[in-house]
Amino acid sequence: MANDGVDLGRRRFLTATTAVVGGVGVAVAAIPFIKSWQPSARAKTSGAPVEADISKLELGQMVTYEWRGQPIWIIHRTKPQLDALPSQDSRLRDPSSSVETQQPTYAVNEYRSRKPELLVLVGICTHLGCSPKMHGELKPEPFDPEWKGGFFCPCHKSRFDMAGRVYDGVPAPTNLVVPPYYFVDDTHIMIGLNERAA
Ligand code: FES
Repeated sequence: MANDGVDLGRRRFLTATTAVVGGVGVAVAAIPFIKSWQPSARAKTSGAPVEADISKLELGQMVTYEWRGQPIWIIHRTKPQLDALPSQDSRLRDPSSSVETQQPTYAVNEYRSRKPELLVLVGICTHLGCSPKMHGELKPEPFDPEWKGGFFCPCHKSRFDMAGRVYDGVPAPTNLVVPPYYFVDDTHIMIGLNERAA
């Protein structure tokens, strides 16, 4: 499946008002996927790398691709979202991404990404496989009065920050997974490989 996450009409609306960026991100993420995402063993082990076009991905937006039967989110984070990340460290279970299985080594950094502004994640909750929703705005939410943007899983209320790092005291045991990826150029990302094949 190719790019199915960005809706042109919604993007035009986005440019008109930044106040709804988070909400639109939720809608875009929620449309193509069912709540519980459980790829078959076959889907997990088969499937070629997928090239994502991010040339039209605006600040605050998320686009979803599919790789090996899993939703792969690419999120263009805003400066306020990035600036807020260190402030969450004391509230997180694994703020320094120490669990090796959850990301490649090049994503073991403050942003959990190759480029600070662009986050690439497997959009599957590490608890029981539901699909969390992005709540990108830095504002109090019913599930967290100190919310600084991130992802909320409605199934059992797990919360993750804007780097996919899991909060303390929720059912999900680990940070969201960062898949292998590399930048083909400034506007294209190859999902599924750590580097260009020789
Ligand atoms: S599946 Fe996400 S919190 Fe349980």
